Amino acid sequence: MRRSLVAGNWKMHGSGATITGLLHSLVQALGNEQDGAEVVVCPPAPYLSLCQQMLQGRAIAVGAQNVHAQASGAFTGDVSAAMLAEFGVRYVIAGHSERRRYAGETDAEVAQKCEAALLAGIAPIVCVGETLEEREAGRADAVVARQLGAVLDHCEGEALGRLVVAYEPVWAIGTGRTAEPEQAQAMHAFIRRVLCDASAALAETVRILYGGSVMAENAAQLFAQQDIDGGLVGGASLKPEEFISICKSVGRQWKPW
Ligand code: PGA
Repeated sequence: MRRSLVAGNWKMHGSGATITGLLHSLVQALGNEQDGAEVVVCPPAPYLSLCQQMLQGRAIAVGAQNVHAQASGAFTGDVSAAMLAEFGVRYVIAGHSERRRYAGETDAEVAQKCEAALLAGIAPIVCVGETLEEREAGRADAVVARQLGAVLDHCEGEALGRLVVAYEPVWAIGTGRTAEPEQAQAMHAFIRRVLCDASAALAETVRILYGGSVMAENAAQLFAQQDIDGGLVGGASLKPEEFISICKSVGRQWKPW
């Protein structure tokens, strides 16, 4: 059984003042929510500590947007999984399409990042998803299987059960063009089959989030799909009312497989 999860990816947005305001609203609406979806916010790295302090003892977890694959070393500008763990970070986004595109992250690097996170006790949210060109060429399944396969082949053991997969079709990110619920469900079911090929236990426990223009108005329909266990929300997670409404529309769902 899987508990639903909603993660807000704030990307490179915000300031101390706006983040403090946003957190106040989220804490008021969701901070004591034990019966709803698990909620995570992923701020830019300098604000991780602020978020961790403001969310201490609340039912909202803190996630990072990136992590380095190595435990330590001469990697100027990077942050290790152990450092994140020390600041109470419980999740980390790995392989977001913006990082694959702008920072040139490869499947192999993303897999190593996931392994580093798992070793530090942090749950990686690995992002997979095809571009419009790949979808139109009928290659969406192959691309997603390749991206996810790299992680499943590289990481082993029970810890992998903490992995979260986010299916984010690149053409739906920040475009206002959301995948149709049935279209998203089809890919989520495919991802679950890929997980099952690795292990039935994984297929049962790994949560598969949908991301790409999730909004208050389309969230409930998406989350009603059998294999959609929550969402990775970008733009709408910066608007407190919108994000709260998305979190509430998921509710606490336990989906069997
Ligand atoms: P979006 O972004 O909700 O703004 O489309 C999602 C994401 O990039 O994780």
